[in-house]
Amino acid sequence: MKEYRLRVKEKIMKADLATIRREYTKGGLKRSDLPDNPLVLFAKWLQEAIDAEVNEPTAMLVGTVSPEGKPAIRTVLLKDLHDGKFIFYTNYGSRKGKHLAHNPSISISFVWHELERQIHIEGIAAKVSPQESDEYFRKRPYKSRIGARISPQSEPIESRIQLIRDFVKETTRWIGKEIDRPEYWGGFAVMPVRVEFWQGRVNRLHDRFLYMLQSDGVWKIERLAP
Ligand SMILES: Cc1cc2nc3c(=O)[nH]c(=O)nc-3n(C[C@H](O)[C@H](O)[C@H](O)COP(=O)(O)O)c2cc1C
Repeated sequence: MKEYRLRVKEKIMKADLATIRREYTKGGLKRSDLPDNPLVLFAKWLQEAIDAEVNEPTAMLVGTVSPEGKPAIRTVLLKDLHDGKFIFYTNYGSRKGKHLAHNPSISISFVWHELERQIHIEGIAAKVSPQESDEYFRKRPYKSRIGARISPQSEPIESRIQLIRDFVKETTRWIGKEIDRPEYWGGFAVMPVRVEFWQGRVNRLHDRFLYMLQSDGVWKIERLAP
């Protein structure tokens, strides 16, 4: 096994990973920059990421925990931000959906490399109302709505051909009709309790500020060591 790994490294990877590094110089974050509510700074940073045309500005890594206590992450897209909550959509029967049904604790990370920024959020996820899921489902492109109906997300499937057959069959079924949202597909709203902002700085002396929600509803702010 060790020999195999060495061979892979020599034959495929030309790069010396240890030498890949750069200084982070794009900005800084000061205590005096921080609003009382982290959602205000989140919205500002997200807008700046969109304005800077970073790749997939709304992409976020979502961490969940299995019933066995094992962590798992995957990327999803942020689709709304309201009432202090982060909204994303998925298949409730997927692996992440099953994890959240068992344990609603969730972590979210946004990484905007072009801006040398990341935000880590921890909180509790709950399904949005069926009406809210319906409303978003109707805004999705026609073929994405069909896709959501036919994909048993995270389950093993026979082949790509079978997937396409199911897609075509389902498309035919809905011709001329408004496509119904399947009840196993919908949104999760994440209520944050811990939010950390990270701005890269020179010499790896990055700025990190942590917001923690107190029982009185006030966010406590601390600077963390990089
Ligand atoms: C850029 C990007 C955006 C994605 N957006 C979503 C999304 O919004 N919802 C979703 O269910 N999966 C999305 N996916 C796919 C997920 O990363 C993942 O493969 C899928 O949800 C199954 O995850 P699970 O098996 O852990 O439940 C996205 C993947 C990428 C790379």
